Amino acid sequence: MRIGVLTSGGDCPGLNAVIRSVVHRAVVDHGDEVIGFHDGWRGLLECDYRKLDLDAVGGILARGGTILGSSRVQPAHLRDGVERARGHVADLGLDAIIPIGGEGTLKAANLLAQGGLPIVGVPKTIDNDIASTDVTFGFDTAVGVATEALDRLKTTAESHQRVMVVEVMGRHTGWIALHSGMAAGAHAIVVPERPFDIEELTAIVGERFSAGKRFAIVVVAEGAKPAPGSSMAVEEGGTDMYGHERFAGIGNRLAVELEARLGKEARPVILGHVQRGGTPTAYDRVLATRFGWHAVEAAHRGQFGMLTALRGTDIVMVPLAEATSTLKTVPADRYEEAQNVL
Ligand code: F6P
Repeated sequence: MRIGVLTSGGDCPGLNAVIRSVVHRAVVDHGDEVIGFHDGWRGLLECDYRKLDLDAVGGILARGGTILGSSRVQPAHLRDGVERARGHVADLGLDAIIPIGGEGTLKAANLLAQGGLPIVGVPKTIDNDIASTDVTFGFDTAVGVATEALDRLKTTAESHQRVMVVEVMGRHTGWIALHSGMAAGAHAIVVPERPFDIEELTAIVGERFSAGKRFAIVVVAEGAKPAPGSSMAVEEGGTDMYGHERFAGIGNRLAVELEARLGKEARPVILGHVQRGGTPTAYDRVLATRFGWHAVEAAHRGQFGMLTALRGTDIVMVPLAEATSTLKTVPADRYEEAQNVL
């Protein structure tokens, strides 16, 4: 069998572990040949690739980022490219393509699968918002980075009697905010699923100071917004060329607002891409390795138009169409549980 692999969309710790696992399973156990397309879908559309043998994936298990490079692609560009991609797949004699990516990549993968390409998807994202899998690799690493930052910020916040507003990633969902906030004992957690009331948030933080505490930590997901009709105004950042909302900086805005309302010093801390960089945790390496192994097996079974998913402790195959139809948001009961830490 000849297999093409690519990494697309925002990078994520664990991508290299999947690539390595695909090559090991395919080359060593099945005698396959593997090629890696450069910079995501661009590599497939422009037939830009390199051969991946065991040497090419040596020493990459613990390495962050992706040795293949990644990029985003405009959906219209990809729609126009289905025919070209089909031609390249035929010319290269590929029997399977394994795209590793998040929501946007998997939607593109589904489009190509519907166009007749032999696709087996692998989900990734630090946001953990892919509905069909219990967990995506990258999430555990991001939560670890955010938790460590929160722990560190607590000590400096206490020294200066400040409110620290820590903005974490989470475009549509607040999983990183929820888990890091719980793990670090944050005093308020603000997620996109639940538009916040600034009066309520001010009261929560204010009560803490009134009770004699000397600092407060607020974790806010980048996609969080005030409830409609709220007395806090936020700017709209518009959308970028890929149709993604541009954020105007909720962490900064919240810090300004809380400082003005509470009369306490507040500092914003934007964790940003530090959550996505660096070495994956052991959990993420194991999950990524299992996904790679199962993707190769699915290709050999001819299970195309599917993606690998974690259900409980098992890896199962799920139709791409189902996986991309909804996002996995933070449910109300998980949010309620987290309120106990306040
Ligand atoms: O989807 C993963 C993610 O890290 C989001 O949490 C974040 O909003 C986005 O990617 C950032 O993308 P970029 O690297 O293009 O700024």
